[in-house]
Amino acid sequence: MKNVLIILGSPRKHGNSELLARQVGEGIKKAGGNADFVRVNGLNISPCQGCGGCDKTGICTIKDDMHEMYTRVDVADAVLLASPVYFYGVTGQCIMNKTFRLKICGLIRELPLVYIGDDFAFASFMAMGDTELIERTAEALVNHHDFPAFDVDVLICPDTKAAPLAHAMARRLKVNYVVARKGVKPYMVDQVIERIEAEGDEEELVLVLDGIDAKQIEGRNVCLVDDVVSTGGSLKVLENIASGLRCKVVGKAAILLEESGYQGDDLIYLEKLPLFKE
Ligand SMILES: Cc1cc2nc3c(=O)[nH]c(=O)nc-3n(C[C@H](O)[C@H](O)[C@H](O)COP(=O)(O)O)c2cc1C
Repeated sequence: MKNVLIILGSPRKHGNSELLARQVGEGIKKAGGNADFVRVNGLNISPCQGCGGCDKTGICTIKDDMHEMYTRVDVADAVLLASPVYFYGVTGQCIMNKTFRLKICGLIRELPLVYIGDDFAFASFMAMGDTELIERTAEALVNHHDFPAFDVDVLICPDTKAAPLAHAMARRLKVNYVVARKGVKPYMVDQVIERIEAEGDEEELVLVLDGIDAKQIEGRNVCLVDDVVSTGGSLKVLENIASGLRCKVVGKAAILLEESGYQGDDLIYLEKLPLFKE
């Protein structure tokens, strides 16, 4: 590990946590690495204002010291947080709740954290509309060593959010793709409908394939494509559609897999998306 960013989280200069962190820094230097220290107490970092600006540009609209932190995190191979215990948690200085920085295929995207309740958040990932990210991730997926590029006849994706990725992958594979929609649309005829009933907090999940698309995939080798896989519910519904049409599922691919989500080892994905619990 070459570059380690060490965040000093105590408001007290040269206190206990800093003493320990400096010792770790010495160890890193002795091992040939570099330790970059940052004291967060003196920084001007505003908490997220929920303005939604980063949804549009991927960059936080607040011009504060966090922007320098992004650069320092970027060049680091690892980040070490040295915080004393304050009220059974880390210090207020250490709580940076603005974004999750996703590094993928040579790109960086700041994902807004969306809170569900007071102590649980997920990073909101929107690939649709992000041309560069779609192109690069599509390229990475079709060239992934486990991707069955020569076996795929057609790609199938759940709803329009995953359609740009399916399109970019299909173009590279020189195949077609079909989109299963989250409801019956006026253009559909002889549609195929599959659903997973609502369970606990989970809502019912319905996917519908137009009859013309169903004919296109019938009996063929299909690859299921999604932008983010969470529990794997959408994959399951797509699989049911595919098996009803006597297709062979030769692959499953996604840009991201949510942490603690789908457990199958048959999914090809590029990065994991963490969940945030306080
Ligand atoms: C406001 C405040 C809250 C604290 N809360 C806790 C706590 O919940 N549990 C604990 O074991 N120590 C607690 N401590 C003690 C600190 O964790 C301890 O003094 C620590 O060594 C300080 O680290 P520093 O020298 O790097 O500032 C608290 C200290 C302060 C000032």
